[in-house]
Amino acid sequence: MAPGMFPIAVLPGDGIGVEVVAEAVRVLEGADRRFQLGLELREGLIAWAAVRAGRPRLPEETRRLVADSRAVLFGAAGLPESEGLAPRDRPERALLELRRLLDCFANLRPVRVLEPLIPASPLRAEVVRGVDFVVVRELTGGLYFGEPRGIERLPDGRERAVDTMVYSTDEIERVVRVSFDLARGRRRRLVCVDKANALETSTLWRRVVDRLAADHPDVTVEHMYVDNCAMQLLRRPRDFDVIVTENLFGDILTDEAAALTGSIGMLPSASLGAGAGLFEPIHGSAPDLAGRGVANPLGAILSAALLLRWACRREDAAAAVEAAVGAALAEGMRTADLAGLSGPALTSRQMGDAVLARL
Ligand code: NAD
Ligand code: IPM
Ligand code: MN
Repeated sequence: MAPGMFPIAVLPGDGIGVEVVAEAVRVLEGADRRFQLGLELREGLIAWAAVRAGRPRLPEETRRLVADSRAVLFGAAGLPESEGLAPRDRPERALLELRRLLDCFANLRPVRVLEPLIPASPLRAEVVRGVDFVVVRELTGGLYFGEPRGIERLPDGRERAVDTMVYSTDEIERVVRVSFDLARGRRRRLVCVDKANALETSTLWRRVVDRLAADHPDVTVEHMYVDNCAMQLLRRPRDFDVIVTENLFGDILTDEAAALTGSIGMLPSASLGAGAGLFEPIHGSAPDLAGRGVANPLGAILSAALLLRWACRREDAAAAVEAAVGAALAEGMRTADLAGLSGPALTSRQMGDAVLARL
């Protein structure tokens, strides 16, 4: 690594991951030219893209690339070929392994309804105008990783499947601390989402949250059941500031929250831990769009902005990218997912150009 260089691993993965990451990379290069960031982008294989190249889903060379990088930009994993494979055998699993490898336990998913996209939201303008909250999703524990798991054949011929939701206090504490810190820099309202009326893990989450709340008297803490939260996100999304929740609840609630913003193609994420951070749009590989060059690249581009903010610690560059996205949208630039019935739709490349031109 050359001195002063900032190495970034770029892992486009599958489907539209390739198309949206290409635009995010161009925007990063544009930001590098403008702000002299010294970025060094190096691409690697993961998921089906790796398997198709005759490599394992998370090849050794990709593990090394990631270990030698200070941030990872990821696209998407998964193709229809996965259907029928057991979860543990699916190439998508490479993403979960990558998250564990990086130990990036706090997945920040900012949900912002931008003024020009209000008509693209399925909800009324007066409900979504000004929505601005962050979901902190625990990313390396819970049902996704708990043991035992598997499908067994019983003596009477039936099959029996087991997943295990398991959390220890330290896993809860570290992600809840990140959430309190975030809330302190915002409107100081933390909603902890769980299912404590049914689950033991949720009971432990509540205990840990209540203990930490005593150290953060300046932050208002509320507990909310996940089913109620799913509803309140539609009824009064503006009231949320920071939401913290376990892995699976966070996965589901953020696809719902993404819809508020006009399209799942808009939502970025930053996954933080002690080491290199992982930056990825929250959407998947969208097999229905893949290869057509029409996917919305803004979630990936905004993930690159989060990379500049959280990994490079360059607020100026991050804010400039976000402003360029805002300006492109304000001037009517739309990919098909946002265009609806009005106006011509841009390709992914044209949207990338529109952002670059305003950077
Ligand atoms: P998906 O997010 O890929 O697609 C859901 C819907 O949203 C589709 O209609 C798609 O066309 C649309 N969409 C998604 N991203 C878009 C974008 N950038 N622009 C415009 N429209 C967009 O979810 P899915 O269909 O449930 O899953 C497809 C595959 O992706 C599966 O293999 C799944 O396992 C995988 N997946 C991967 C990730 C990830 O890598 N982080 C996330 C979710 C799903
Ligand atoms: C996401 C995705 C992944 C997840 C899948 C592909 C395993 O839905 O990043 O939101 O559930 O974490
Ligand atoms: Mn998801």
